[in-house]
Amino acid sequence: MTTINHRVTLARRPTGEATADCFALESEQLAKLEAGQVRVKVEYISIDAALRTMLYGEGYHRQFGVGDTIGSTGVGRVIDSASPEWEVGQAVRGRLGAQTFATVGPKDIAAVDENLGPLSAHLGALGGTTGLTAWIGVRNIGKPLPGETFVVSGAAGGVGSIAGQIAKIDGARVIGIAGGPEKATFLVDTLGFDEAIDYKHEDVGERLRELAPDGLNVFFDNVGGDILDAALDNIALRARVVICGAISQYDDMSAVTGPSMYLRLAERQSRMEGFALFHFKESYAQATAELAGWLADGSLVSPEDIMEGLERFPEALEFMFSGGNVGKLMVHATPPA
Ligand SMILES: NC(=O)c1ccc[n+]([C@@H]2O[C@H](COP(=O)([O-])OP(=O)(O)OC[C@H]3O[C@@H](n4cnc5c(N)ncnc54)[C@H](OP(=O)(O)O)[C@@H]3O)[C@@H](O)[C@H]2O)c1
Repeated sequence: MTTINHRVTLARRPTGEATADCFALESEQLAKLEAGQVRVKVEYISIDAALRTMLYGEGYHRQFGVGDTIGSTGVGRVIDSASPEWEVGQAVRGRLGAQTFATVGPKDIAAVDENLGPLSAHLGALGGTTGLTAWIGVRNIGKPLPGETFVVSGAAGGVGSIAGQIAKIDGARVIGIAGGPEKATFLVDTLGFDEAIDYKHEDVGERLRELAPDGLNVFFDNVGGDILDAALDNIALRARVVICGAISQYDDMSAVTGPSMYLRLAERQSRMEGFALFHFKESYAQATAELAGWLADGSLVSPEDIMEGLERFPEALEFMFSGGNVGKLMVHATPPA
């Protein structure tokens, strides 16, 4: 059995983009387990947009200290256990960190049911920060009705691709906003959205007016900034604007640009509501059951974008922030050569 853990740590706090030199790859000897501890071989590491917000010294969400292992969520398998609660071979999910082996307490991990989907799906369609987030934002906040127009930004990414499909299952007309012609084609041809807007080459406001002349009933926002303003300018009466995230703002959280078009909310009797998935724990079981059902019957497509090798973790984060990923981005935590 291997005795070395490889891990990605925060080498320095980024100013602006989180580039590869902000991270370090370190190795350490694995110690013998203490009573109660569990050792997990990490298989897949979730690349989440919110990780960027955790690299600041203070502020939004949790923070990582310089020298800390990046505390990302992952899935893996128990390979050693000094806890009566866990057996070798069990598949688990938790904040395993960007590393090849996680040594955790018995309450730091949760079992995943591989009958519902393969390990990677438990970060993707069945993952908290992906499928469950999409489900909660659509079902608990946006609540699209059949025939309503539902628009989602970051539409080809992990959360957006699933949010749009759930709205479609619920009978809405779905328009996705993403960067580049390939992603626009993917939204319509692979995910079954009704329309797509390529924000890198098209004027979002103009396209929304063309595609939704009666206005947007629900806007599910993952991006913020100019795209949020273009959407607000085009909301219908009694629209619901769901603030899931604002990736366009994460590289400089000290200068977040707020929406200048917010008075449309007053004019059109609409509301804007943010949410964080952990406030909706009571929805997890139902969301997981429905998402698993849709995966099983083929009504939900769950694209995954998997990079091979732990050492590519920094590259993966840069890839996401430059819009490289299609679907849920993760790193397969194979050790560096
Ligand atoms: N509220 C919650 O509880 C919760 C939980 C999880 C995630 N989230 C939020 O959900 C959103 C999506 O997260 P994810 O992890 O699934 O990421 P993702 O959508 O898989 O990847 C992010 C995508 O955002 C787009 N993007 C990056 N920089 C951008 C910019 N400056 N302007 C416009 N688009 C940009 C890129 O696609 P393009 O090619 O289209 O640009 C990129 O692929 C994030 O805002 C995240 O913070 C919220």
